[in-house]
Amino acid sequence: MDQNRGMSPALAIEHQVNLAPMNTFGLPATAWRLVRIRSEADVQALLQHPELGRLPRLVIGGGSNLVFSRDPDGVVLKVEVPGLRLAESRPDAWIIEAGAGESWHGLVAWSLAQGHLGLENLALIPGTVGAAPVQNIGAYGVELQDRFESLDAIDLATGRPVVMDHAACRFGYRDSVFKQAAAGHLLILRVRFRLPRPWRPVLGYLDLERKMAETGNTRPDANTLFDWVVGIRRAKLPDPAVIGNAGSFFKNPVVTAEQCRDIIARDPNVVHYLLDDGSFKLAAGWLIDACGWKGKTVGDAAVYDKQALVLVNRGAATGAQVLTLARAIQESVYGRFGIRLEAEPVIV
Ligand code: EPU
Repeated sequence: MDQNRGMSPALAIEHQVNLAPMNTFGLPATAWRLVRIRSEADVQALLQHPELGRLPRLVIGGGSNLVFSRDPDGVVLKVEVPGLRLAESRPDAWIIEAGAGESWHGLVAWSLAQGHLGLENLALIPGTVGAAPVQNIGAYGVELQDRFESLDAIDLATGRPVVMDHAACRFGYRDSVFKQAAAGHLLILRVRFRLPRPWRPVLGYLDLERKMAETGNTRPDANTLFDWVVGIRRAKLPDPAVIGNAGSFFKNPVVTAEQCRDIIARDPNVVHYLLDDGSFKLAAGWLIDACGWKGKTVGDAAVYDKQALVLVNRGAATGAQVLTLARAIQESVYGRFGIRLEAEPVIV
C-alpha cells in the first residue's frame, strides 16, 4: 500500500485486496486495486490519477447488498466518509446529516440517543448510510424515502459535486436512480434526513401489531419501538457476522388485482397486501416457502430456514453457487405461481 496519504493528490492504493470480509455474504472475490474514499478530495485525486482515473469502478459501502460472482473490473472504491451531526433544528423537523461511510444502525442508535426520533423502524439494517438511498432501504412500514431530505454526491464522469433532492433520487420500492440511470456514475458522500416533529410511531406492520398485543403496550415510545424492531429482526433474520447473507435476496413481486385473484384461487393462503394504486404486493418469502425451499442447498449456499427470502452462506459458498440456487428458486416459483422473482442485491 502507498503510505503517502494526505499529500494531495496522492491516493492510498491497495493491491490485490481480498473482498470476502468486505461483503456480508462472505463471497470470495479480489479487488485488483482498492481505494478508500474518506472525503471529496479523495474522489478528485482518484479521477485525476493517471492510471486509475479512467478505469471502470465499483463503489461499495458495507457490502451488505452485494453478490460477487466474479472479480470486479477496474478499481473498487470503498466509501468511508465519516460524520454524524444535527444540521438543523426546525419547529417541524430535525435535519440530521451523516457521512456515507457511517454504519446505518450506528446512525439510527445515535439519532435516538440524541432525541432526534423517527428512524427506529429501520434499526439493525446492515450496511452503510451511503448505500441506504441506493436501494431505498425499508422495514416495518418505513422506507428511507419517508425520512429523506437530500444528499451530496460527486458525478464521477465530470468530477462535479451535486446536491440531490427527493425527486432527483427517483425512489421506488427497493429502487432509486442510483440503481438505474445513475448506476456507477454518482458517488454518494453525505445524506441528510428529515425527521418530522412531533414524533409519531409507525405501528401498522403485522409484526409490530403482534408486539403490541403481546405486551399490552399500544403506545410504545421510540426506545421501545427500537427494541421491538431489533428483537423481531434478531428472531427472523440471520446476523451477517455469524452467517453470511445479503438480507432479502428477492424483491416482493407486485401483481395486478386480476393476477392476485388468480393466485388466491389456486392458493388461498398466499400472503398479499393491497397497495395504494390498486395493485397487490405478494410476500416472496411465502411463495418460496410454499415451494418447499427452506433449508435447501447448492454447495454451501442455502435458503435460510427461518425466512425463505434470505439466502445464506453456510461457510465456503461461491457466488456461482448462490446464483445457481437463486435461479432454481426463480424457476420453481415461476412454474407454480407464474411469477418472476427479481433479485434484490447488486450482482457483480
Ligand atoms: N413468510 C413465510 N415464509 C417465509 C418468509 C415469510 O410464510 O419463509 C411470510 C411471513 O409469515 C409474512 C410474510 O411472508 O406473513 C412477509 O414476511 P416478513 O414480514 O418477514 O417480511 P418480508 O416481506 O419477507 C420485507 C423486506 C425486509 C424487511 C421486512 C420487514 C423485502 C424484499 N424485504 O420482508 O427487508 O425487513 O419486510 O419490513 O421487501 C431486505 O430488504 O433485505 C429486508 C430484510
